[in-house]
Amino acid sequence: MKTILVTGSSKGIGYAMVKSLAAQGHQTILTGRTAEQVVTAQRELSQEGIKTDIYVLDILNEAQIKSAVEYVDKHYGKLDVLINNAGIFPNAGNSEFANLDVIRETIETNTLAPYRMIQAFLPLLKKSHDARIVNVSSKMASLSSMNGGAPGYRLSKTALNAVTKIFAHDLAPYGISVNSICPGFVKTQMGGPTATREPEEGADTACWLATCEKSPTGKFFHDRKEIAW
Ligand SMILES: NC(=O)c1ccc[n+]([C@@H]2O[C@H](COP(=O)([O-])OP(=O)(O)OC[C@H]3O[C@@H](n4cnc5c(N)ncnc54)[C@H](OP(=O)(O)O)[C@@H]3O)[C@@H](O)[C@H]2O)c1
Repeated sequence: MKTILVTGSSKGIGYAMVKSLAAQGHQTILTGRTAEQVVTAQRELSQEGIKTDIYVLDILNEAQIKSAVEYVDKHYGKLDVLINNAGIFPNAGNSEFANLDVIRETIETNTLAPYRMIQAFLPLLKKSHDARIVNVSSKMASLSSMNGGAPGYRLSKTALNAVTKIFAHDLAPYGISVNSICPGFVKTQMGGPTATREPEEGADTACWLATCEKSPTGKFFHDRKEIAW
């Protein structure tokens, strides 16, 4: 049984990750920035016979991150898997006239907050014998197929992929794996109703990386297959 924390998991793909991992018997910590949503999500899972711990965590709030680390340390003494799932997709406008403040906010949430989460939880990840970090990115981040549109989102997720590569290298001596995944186009608040996949399908690759026997590191995956950066 692994102890697994998923950010932004009171709804969407993160919720599907917690549901799947907790149903497999792992100790999950469902987190989100709204207490009411976090408690509601825990109750919904409980009604299906699935147990999860919860913690209110806004990944932009340094004090809450520090408290979350203390909470996990006190209750579990280590963290086996950190899934940086929380993300935003605000409309910054097209690249020519894009609002740089919106781009900056997007990078704060999608890139720097996962970076801070990794730094903060590192002491607890180092206490695990098989620690893993999964960063939820997007194919829209791939430089090999980079296109126009959504400049803030693309920049933030390409930079998140760089975070993956940097930490995969620097944490290799500790045996900590770090990978990025793309969930595909998923029916959530972000993906909208026209998206093609269910949250469970979007959650699958991160759940696989969290629990597979021997994790790869420094790679980018979609549907359990490696894809180009
Ligand atoms: N849906 C897609 O088609 C798609 C495609 C590629 C990649 N992704 C990625 O998949 C991940 C999950 O997205 P989703 O589709 O499940 O979207 P979603 O339904 O909008 O869920 C996003 C989650 O992130 C949380 N969040 C945002 N800012 C946060 C913060 N500062 N602190 C804590 N939580 C925060 C949201 O919390 P609130 O409930 O408080 O807003 C929400 O729980 C994201 O990283 C997204 O970029 C999604």
